[in-house]
Amino acid sequence: MRGFEGRVAIVTGSGQGIGAAIAQRLAQGGARVVLNDVVAERVAEACSKLGEQGYQAGYVASDIATTKGAQELVEYAKKTYGQVDILVNNAGIAKDRYLVKMSDEEWESVIRVNLSAQFLTCRAAARAMMERQYGRIINIASRAWLGGPGQANYSASKGGVVSLTRTLALELGKFQITTNAIAPGLIDTPLYRQLKPEVQERLAKTVPVQRVGTPAEVADAVAFFADDDAGYLNGQVLYVCGGRSVGSY
Ligand SMILES: NC(=O)c1ccc[n+]([C@@H]2O[C@H](COP(=O)([O-])OP(=O)(O)OC[C@H]3O[C@@H](n4cnc5c(N)ncnc54)[C@H](O)[C@@H]3O)[C@@H](O)[C@H]2O)c1
Repeated sequence: MRGFEGRVAIVTGSGQGIGAAIAQRLAQGGARVVLNDVVAERVAEACSKLGEQGYQAGYVASDIATTKGAQELVEYAKKTYGQVDILVNNAGIAKDRYLVKMSDEEWESVIRVNLSAQFLTCRAAARAMMERQYGRIINIASRAWLGGPGQANYSASKGGVVSLTRTLALELGKFQITTNAIAPGLIDTPLYRQLKPEVQERLAKTVPVQRVGTPAEVADAVAFFADDDAGYLNGQVLYVCGGRSVGSY
């Protein structure tokens, strides 16, 4: 296992699903972890689960799609643990609908939570990372950034995440801050289980490895980019999708 001893990591949207698995993975590697979620009870519970395992963890229940919520999160990490080394932008939502039926709210809320929030947390955390000339930013995009029917809002938001990642890699590299993205495919989480069971079954058959992935498999990819030794990986998009980015099976 790669180590994060002495590192402080923030993981947004980590009350459940992929974010909770990432927080667990980084804590197992020795990081002090700051969890976050807009659902307060959910993040409190995820944080106490880490505490029960003997890991150092705190949390901020905030909406990171607001300037205030993003700043509070970074300030908590700095105040409590003195620094921010790793930022994982994981919080995300989906509101799928075909273009002609999609409401303004469905478009705007998905762009706000999936894309604008990543800008806000990156800006707040980058300032803290620049002071120490070290940082690892990992943005959770999606294989769906390549395009998906009924996902104009989601797909565009994740395409924006890829462009944001590539731009920050250029801007922040000189401060020894790397920025990379993970593009998960179908992962078994509460978000994925919003789909009808028959749709889940049909989709799983389109994956070359013939199954959905686990949150822990995404967390391992995050740990790869978050490692001290990953300082020459910058501006990259890593697919964790069982080969579905190559084509459906
Ligand atoms: N599950 C998949 O198949 C899949 C595939 C590709 C990408 N992703 C991406 O992975 C990430 C995590 O997805 P998941 O499946 O674990 O989702 P999830 O719905 O299970 O968990 C997401 C968490 O984010 C929180 N959240 C939402 N909006 C927030 C906000 N404004 N501020 C703070 N917290 C907020 C939610 O309350 C929830 O606890 C998302 O960015 C998603 O787009 C998921």
